[in-house]
Amino acid sequence: MNKKNWYSLIAVLLLSAIILTACGGAAPEAAPEAPAAEEPAAAEEPAAVEEPAAAEEPMEASQVEVFSWWTGGGEAAGLDAMIEIFGAEYADIEFVNAAVAGGAGTNARAVLATRLQAGDPPDSWQGHAGQELIGTYVAGGQIEALNDLYDAEGWVDVMPETLIPLISHEGNIYSVPVNIHRANVMWYNPAVLEANGVAVPTTMDEWFAAMDTLQAAGVTPLALGEQWTQLHLFETVLLGSLGSEAYDGLWDGSTDWASAEVTAAIDAFAKVLTYTNSDAASLSWQDASQLVVNGDAAFNVMGDWAAGYYIELGLTAMEDYGWAPTPGSVGVFQFLSDSFTLAVGAPHPEGAEAWLKIAGSKAGQEAFNPVKGSICARTDCDPTLFGEYLQSAMEDWGSNTVSGSLTHGVVANDSWKSEIDTALGLFLIDQGVEDFQTALVAACVASGPCQ
Ligand code: GAL
Repeated sequence: MNKKNWYSLIAVLLLSAIILTACGGAAPEAAPEAPAAEEPAAAEEPAAVEEPAAAEEPMEASQVEVFSWWTGGGEAAGLDAMIEIFGAEYADIEFVNAAVAGGAGTNARAVLATRLQAGDPPDSWQGHAGQELIGTYVAGGQIEALNDLYDAEGWVDVMPETLIPLISHEGNIYSVPVNIHRANVMWYNPAVLEANGVAVPTTMDEWFAAMDTLQAAGVTPLALGEQWTQLHLFETVLLGSLGSEAYDGLWDGSTDWASAEVTAAIDAFAKVLTYTNSDAASLSWQDASQLVVNGDAAFNVMGDWAAGYYIELGLTAMEDYGWAPTPGSVGVFQFLSDSFTLAVGAPHPEGAEAWLKIAGSKAGQEAFNPVKGSICARTDCDPTLFGEYLQSAMEDWGSNTVSGSLTHGVVANDSWKSEIDTALGLFLIDQGVEDFQTALVAACVASGPCQ
């Protein structure tokens, strides 16, 4: 086993140990889909992933090591575009790309946890605004406050007012958001819908009717991938079935997880799963996105990084792929935001500060987002740089009701999310709606506001 494999293996073992300790015996994150200890698939390998430096080998002074999970399918291209801006501005600082492959950071975050535990942090890492940042990294004392940088760069005036509280704690601001992504997007193949006489559904009932028609015609109605994409699907069905107010209430204790409306939402989710491909567990999110544009499936529910992937594939908006809010969520923008941090004990604080300045800059965000399939976190980016889908996302972000994503860190901290994910894993095996709901109630009592 090479050094990198050891890193992954130790990462998995240590993360399990940390979560077991932190949760007083709760199951480790994503237990049913244990993060793979082996090398990520070759296709997802970044062009040049650098080995994280061992603690005893200090890195050179003029460096910055940046950790993310953007290694393929539109994601690496976005990061590269921002690295190029960084290189032009800071030619004397070497950019060390420590990206670890795997959608939604399922593998990367295990590696990161091991490094943090070992006192070997990257200078800066990708973290989601919201509870992932505040309830995990800030709570763990792992990241530095950035108030001085915000003052110096004037960022409070250009970042959305709604976002600042999600990256702040006790008057300090803890990360630099690079984007806004939308989670509740239903991608579809326009030709497949047309050939089957199916209109784009806007409600759950219309969606079920459309999927019945497609299934009867021998078309896979809904493309699905590995477990985190199923959690993603679940959160959008909760939103579509409950509505945004009751969905938001799940995360602050005002909606009862044991209520009949949550039972109905889980029933709806169980029904949605009957329309999906049988090989979901072995597919990445890119594979599932691909099924739609290939005409092998009609719909896919995925965040709008799928737009970045479709752009990279050279596809044409509203011809090769169409989009709509997930059924039941018209007028709601279920958002998440990628942001970058400054590690406590960063080996290269100056390099990290330089990187954060680019991540928060107009030039950095205008280079990154049109390629990544997200809109700027900053409010002053030039809309004409963005394609058709992203321009529509900008409009919706400005006018819709905003809710937060579970899968991507906004509404629940790591331990709560991990308990929900564990419950989902069991549900996917036994399909027991009652048991699933009981486990969700228990998760809210153990780690959420339902105490
Ligand atoms: C999310 C992340 C996005 C995208 C996606 C798929 O968690 O916020 O930027 O990378 O995972 O990997």
